[in-house]
Parts: sequence; structure tokens; C-alpha cells
Amino acid sequence: MSLHGLLSVTMGVPNVAETAAYYADFGLAPEEDNWFATADAGRQLRIEYAPTRRMVELRVAADDADDLARIAARLERLGVAAHLGEGTLQTAEPATGARVLVEIAPRLVQDTVPASVYNGPGRLERQDARAPGFTRPDRVRPRKLGHAVVGSTDHEVTQSFFTDGLGFKVSDRIKGAGAFLRCSTDHHNVLVLGAPVNFLHHTSWQVDDVDDVGRGACAMLEDHPERHVWGLGRHFAGSNFFWYLKDPAGNFSEYYSDMDCIIDDQLWTPEDLEGARGLFAWGPPPPSSFLRPDDLAAMMTGAHAPR
Ligand SMILES: [Fe+2]
Repeated sequence: MSLHGLLSVTMGVPNVAETAAYYADFGLAPEEDNWFATADAGRQLRIEYAPTRRMVELRVAADDADDLARIAARLERLGVAAHLGEGTLQTAEPATGARVLVEIAPRLVQDTVPASVYNGPGRLERQDARAPGFTRPDRVRPRKLGHAVVGSTDHEVTQSFFTDGLGFKVSDRIKGAGAFLRCSTDHHNVLVLGAPVNFLHHTSWQVDDVDDVGRGACAMLEDHPERHVWGLGRHFAGSNFFWYLKDPAGNFSEYYSDMDCIIDDQLWTPEDLEGARGLFAWGPPPPSSFLRPDDLAAMMTGAHAPR
């Protein structure tokens, strides 16, 4: 039938133990072999050694063998090598070299989380009680991997691999700089950004609501104010609330909630986003290091300069 989501992302970093400790703090559950699990979708992050930080692997879910056969044929037309195995297609994104696996997997069904109750003019949905969003006793635990953002030295080649090759759909474009691509009903699962070097810009993790975006980020910053990158804000592309933090390898990690969902492709019109719209709808001004991370020059020379 079609692609239906991301299964996992593998990030390569020079400092595996330190980075692994960060993602445990972030709320992902550590499992053996440096795998980390989300609350709803199991193992979705793997951390392994690489001399400079990068996206090593992305696993994408498909419904059936016909999907894999179609993808194999499209990749062949693009001149991209692929190996079709039992229930899996393995290939590599040509510009960044990231390994990509498309696997037959069941569709993720998430339990319904009751809507958070907010008061508004003429609408007292919560009476005689404080807002529950900040008095939740549990720590924030991401429900699923939402998207991975990859900086590519040839964003057109990378975008074509995902769209013409794998069958991702374009949700919005950042004029001349990249595109928001989806392989599920979420507005984006992969964002390709043109960059002077191939690197992993950020991974993004779904939480219940805006209170959990704030609660999760504040907990991460409590003893580590240096982790703060950008937030709280709301993106235009995808409409999601966001707060970005930085792991010890220099990758950003995002808590998000309330992402646009595209159920009927005919009802969604991709836009070419220019200027600030490509970045956000509201929030504090983005730091210059958001688009040009501080270690970009170091990565271009093959060195590593965390923080
Ligand atoms: Fe994001």
C-alpha cells in the first residue's frame, strides 16, 4: 500500500557514552547495545560511534512486499543501488551516504491521550483547579520519533532520493534550501536542508501537549542550562510547538506537540516558505547557531568540536 512512518534513526557520534546519557535524561528508555525506546513505538534511536556526528541510518516502515518492489524499481531508475531482501530493502542516500532501510512493519497505533483542558473566553473547561499540565508527577517520556532533519551538501539529490526514490511526499518547501517530506500522515518525517557539510541537524520526539514540551525542556535545563538552543515556539511548517536542546555531540533534539496531520493529500497544498516562515510562526528569535551550528566549520574539516 504505502510507506507509513519512521521506525528508527541511528546517529553516529564521537562521544557515545556521554550522548547516550543525554538521551536517557531526555526521556528515552535505554536498552542494550545503545538502543533507546519511546513510550509508544519501542526502539527508535540507536547511538553508535562515528568520528564526526552524522545520521548513520534511517529505517522507514512500509506495508507490504509490493511497496518494496516499487521502491526498488524507482531507485533503479534513479541509478541508486539497492538490495531487496526478505521484508527489507536496503539502500543508501547518495549525497550524505546515510544507510536507509525500508522494512515491512505493522502500522503504529497510538492510544488516545485525552485532550488537555484549557480555559478560554466564555469557556471555563477547568474550574476550581490549577492547570494539570505542570503538576503531572511523571517525567516526560517521548511517545514516538517524529522526524529527522539532515543537512546535505546536495539537498536536491537527497530530496529526490526520498521523494522520487522512496515515495515520500512534499508537505512544504523552504525556498532554495530544502523541503519538509512525509512518509506518514504527520506533516514531516524528514526535513532535508542544504548545508556545506553532511550532518544530522536534529531529531524530534512527540510528547503529549505544549505543557509537556515545556516541562520536558525545563527538566533537561535544570542542571544543564548550556543545553538550551531555541524555544518555546511554534513552527509555521507543521504548526507544532517546539523546544530544541543540544546533546553533547552537538546534535539538536526537539520536543514537539500538535503537529499538522495530512490525511487527504488532495486537501493539502504545499507552500514555498520564505524568510522567517520557513523557521517559525512565533517564539523567541532563532539563534544563528540553529541554522549554522557552531561546529559546522569543524565538521567541514573532519574535526569534531562538541559544544
Ligand atoms: Fe523539527
